[in-house]
Amino acid sequence: MQRLKGQKALITGASSGIGRGIAIAMAKEGAQVGINYYKNLEGAEETLKQVEANGGEGIILQANVGDPEEVEGMFKKFLDAFGTIDIMVTNAGIQKDAPFLEMDFKDWQQVLNINLSGQFLCAQFAAKEFIKRGVVKDRSKAAGKIICMSSVHDIIPWAGHINYATSKGGVMMMMKTMAQELAHHKIRVNAISPGAIKTPINEEVWQNEEKRKELLELIPYQRIGKPKDIGNTAVWLASDESDYVNGTTIYVDGCMTLYPGFIGNG
Ligand code: BGC
Repeated sequence: MQRLKGQKALITGASSGIGRGIAIAMAKEGAQVGINYYKNLEGAEETLKQVEANGGEGIILQANVGDPEEVEGMFKKFLDAFGTIDIMVTNAGIQKDAPFLEMDFKDWQQVLNINLSGQFLCAQFAAKEFIKRGVVKDRSKAAGKIICMSSVHDIIPWAGHINYATSKGGVMMMMKTMAQELAHHKIRVNAISPGAIKTPINEEVWQNEEKRKELLELIPYQRIGKPKDIGNTAVWLASDESDYVNGTTIYVDGCMTLYPGFIGNG
């Protein structure tokens, strides 16, 4: 029995990495998926190819999640294609690293805009649709599910990445406040906080043997995560199996958050 059969899921930043992993995992469980991308059309096409190879169905949607008009256009296309929405995964995120004293204000703003405001905008659009529609019997126990993409850096400060860590700290509090406000509408809002997952966002670390080793030392479970690890968690959070889970964060990090010596990995 597919756990998300017939459900419609919109996943932002699904042209690579964690977003792609989630799109594939949800499609395998019977969801129809909206694959959002901003610049990487080729990547989005590859995600769609893999969704279809797994027997799923998807559409590609271009939008900058930090731009309200583009987000509105993306939702319109998604709803035109699928009629409704059940699952919103606000995943799109970027990193623009620099030490605090050297950080350019533009890079500060851009990361906050995509990683935090972008998740706010998409979640707000989705929540309004969930409320308009309400619970649909036989589809899901909830009127809708929002899954925010946070990071272990919502609780671990990260020297050299102040904009990114701040955005994820914000995502955690945004998620909890949304959950409080939306629970009586039968909407569930949760977050996933990945640790080190092998994706293009941290390609620089994978390419560098020394940095890779340093990173591994920060992970008590002694392996780097895969997009599939996050995909499986997202499926569970979107399914009725987690129906009483609301307003919480799941750390998918091989115990990284418990490593006492974490001061950063570049
Ligand atoms: C970042 C990765 C990093 C990991 C652990 C994630 O949020 O995107 O680049 O390896 O945190 O530090």
